[in-house]
Amino acid sequence: MVPLDDVRKLLAATGARVRDSVPLAGLTTLRVGGPATVAECGDTDALVATVRALDAAGIPLLLLAGGSNLLVADAGFGGVVVRVATGGVELGEDRVVAEAGANWDAVVAATVAAGSGGLECLSGIPGSAGATPVQNVGAYGVEVARVLRRVRLLDRASGEIHWAAPEELDFGYRTSMLKHSDRALVLAVEFALRTDGTSAPLNYRELAHALDAAEGQSRPAAPVREAVLRLRAGKGMVLDMADHDTWSAGSFFTNPVVPAARVDEVRAAVSAYMGDVTIPTYPAAGGVKFSAGWLIERAGFGKGFPGPDAPARLSTKHTLALTNRGAATASDLLDLARTVRDGVEERFGIRLEPEPVTVGVTL
Ligand code: EPU
Repeated sequence: MVPLDDVRKLLAATGARVRDSVPLAGLTTLRVGGPATVAECGDTDALVATVRALDAAGIPLLLLAGGSNLLVADAGFGGVVVRVATGGVELGEDRVVAEAGANWDAVVAATVAAGSGGLECLSGIPGSAGATPVQNVGAYGVEVARVLRRVRLLDRASGEIHWAAPEELDFGYRTSMLKHSDRALVLAVEFALRTDGTSAPLNYRELAHALDAAEGQSRPAAPVREAVLRLRAGKGMVLDMADHDTWSAGSFFTNPVVPAARVDEVRAAVSAYMGDVTIPTYPAAGGVKFSAGWLIERAGFGKGFPGPDAPARLSTKHTLALTNRGAATASDLLDLARTVRDGVEERFGIRLEPEPVTVGVTL
């Protein structure tokens, strides 16, 4: 624990607001996590000054914006949590620029309301705009890597600020060079928009069906946004304080990509257990992507597992979301995650990898 007075002194001139013993549960969508000292940065200058000061002093920091992809230990965090509370959004005709802390769905909503397309498939995703390139957020056939124009980064080693092109970020499925790395901090993002008001091509079958469209067709952005929000809400993937199925970090595991050489072996393991079933798979670079939600359910962990009395359960709407029913701790969630991961591995020989960033804990 860094003494509070030292933190206050260090950050006095940065413009950050420092608070002590803040329960991190209140700042994350899983609503778990113990206390920490929090430095809240309401503008980009304060954010840059705060991170530079903490880095120069060698104080460990945790960046927290929307808190929708974090599993924080019950013991909290011993360094300083830097709360990214910036929120500026600038809408142009063919682009939108958002500060890192801007609420992502508000950014999407603003583009659609202005008659611009391109981001509508990414509607309803919890969290901040600045987090979207870090894990290359994707949903309903659109990935951040494909719509991002550039990212404004603070290089934490040199202290320099620059705009980086998507090619520099090494994007992959739910990953980029910004994930699991402390090298750079996202200050702002810029996305390309479609000026004719149409959506990105509808490449996700479920969404195309919902809109009576053929796969690959476009539709006006507004009804596509509405359809995405409906589909997400049906899966408990739109934040709603009153609905514990949404007290989650979204998908807790990534969909496993099985290398081409192992695909037959995995299919055989599934058939041995399930009999002759159609296994949902998707083409992926280097192999075949299996559906984690499907594997979890077929390994015996149905929606709502392990039952109504458990503090941490699988969502009753989607097996890929681990949820806090109100009183869960980080350990409860980790126990559940291990049970599910190990069960799937035992049955099907596939090891699921967690998607959220863990702080002070590991699976
Ligand atoms: N399935 C089940 N049981 C369930 C849920 C799903 O068997 O309870 C099976 C079904 O066969 C279904 C398949 O899983 O057809 C795929 O389900 P879904 O369409 O919901 O997509 P997903 O692969 O589970 C991914 C992303 C989501 C994103 C949706 C829609 C990952 C890890 N997750 O989920 O992203 O919203 O596609 O594009 O890639 C997130 O990353 O946090 C996230 C929510």
